[in-house]
Amino acid sequence: MSLLYSPVTLGPYTFKNRIVMSPMTRSRAVGNVPDDLMAEYYRQRASSAGLIITEGTSPSPNGLGYPRIPGIFSAAQVAAWKKVTDAAHSKGAKIFVQLMHTGRIGHPNNLPQGAAVVGPSAVLAAGEMYTDAEGPKPHPTPKAMTEADIKAAIAEYEHAAKDAVAAGFEGIELHGANGYLLEQFIRPASNKRTDGYGGSIENRARFVLDVVKATTAAIGKDKVGIRLSPFGVFNDMPLYPEMEADYAYLARALNATGLFYIHLVDHSPMGAPAVPQSIKDAFRKQFKGVLILSGGYDAARAESDLEARKADLIAVGRPLLANPDLLERWKTGAVLNAPDMDTFYTPGAKGYTDYPVLAPQPA
Ligand SMILES: Cc1cc2nc3c(=O)[nH]c(=O)nc-3n(C[C@H](O)[C@H](O)[C@H](O)COP(=O)(O)O)c2cc1C
Repeated sequence: MSLLYSPVTLGPYTFKNRIVMSPMTRSRAVGNVPDDLMAEYYRQRASSAGLIITEGTSPSPNGLGYPRIPGIFSAAQVAAWKKVTDAAHSKGAKIFVQLMHTGRIGHPNNLPQGAAVVGPSAVLAAGEMYTDAEGPKPHPTPKAMTEADIKAAIAEYEHAAKDAVAAGFEGIELHGANGYLLEQFIRPASNKRTDGYGGSIENRARFVLDVVKATTAAIGKDKVGIRLSPFGVFNDMPLYPEMEADYAYLARALNATGLFYIHLVDHSPMGAPAVPQSIKDAFRKQFKGVLILSGGYDAARAESDLEARKADLIAVGRPLLANPDLLERWKTGAVLNAPDMDTFYTPGAKGYTDYPVLAPQPA
């Protein structure tokens, strides 16, 4: 019997299968508000996934570093997200919104008026950010957040968590991976603070844990998960000697908060350094909640990792991006559509809602 394709009850949720749609930024939210095309995109993929995690969505005007990414802080955004959650639910999927504050990864061109590129410290990230007006531009040096800014950001996460529930999401995923604001606090290369939010790992983890505590208190422990990328180097996040010990601390500290899940990133299938199995095993051992693994999964590897109890759920990104009917294709061994990288982040339906399906899906 397949574990991958069978329903599973975890906490208060029964998922129709163990496939999670990985969070994927698609930059279709013109004006930072989801539209009907986005609802259609998620509706198509909801037939294949037990749980959808949305694209990175900012809890704050300051976190809208990329062009055309959605937010979840205004009434218009909450109303618009309701169409997306309805679409997911109409196909029997649960849906969490990924709260992504981009922090120092951004450009003022992409931000609304009055917003700023901020970070734990005024440490520039190497690399460029695409802007619609002027093409790629170097990241600016971020404004170092004051303690008042930190308090305000925690309140923004808390507010966004409540908005997520109001919009019909089952919960939120805190984006603590891939070099964005939460990870900028965790890592010593981007966090040079000398107050209670910098220095030791206990201090560098404090912002993340404060956000977890604020959001779980606001909407409930079963409604909050977090994505982490130990050994991830994306967005100018260098490896360092204490990495494994730091993340082992995080696994223990997050376990103590009682949040619903931890979702680990492994981008070695995309050319990033390998994530040691020892760190995945450490999370499995230390964290008593739900563990989601991701990165380069096909059906066979997903099934075998579930059988080996390495994870409770398996997240799938690019195969689901390109194959709305992935479940059917995996079950029947059909050939998969290849993802078209040229349309990953371009506006419009092309490369978004027009990937072919094997047979017409029921309306
Ligand atoms: C187009 C695209 C956009 C992505 N955007 C996000 C994002 O917003 N948040 C995030 O945590 N990961 C993001 N990722 C990473 C994926 O969630 C996933 O970890 C990665 O694609 C590896 O999984 P896969 O091999 O199943 O595709 C993105 C990946 C792709 C291809």
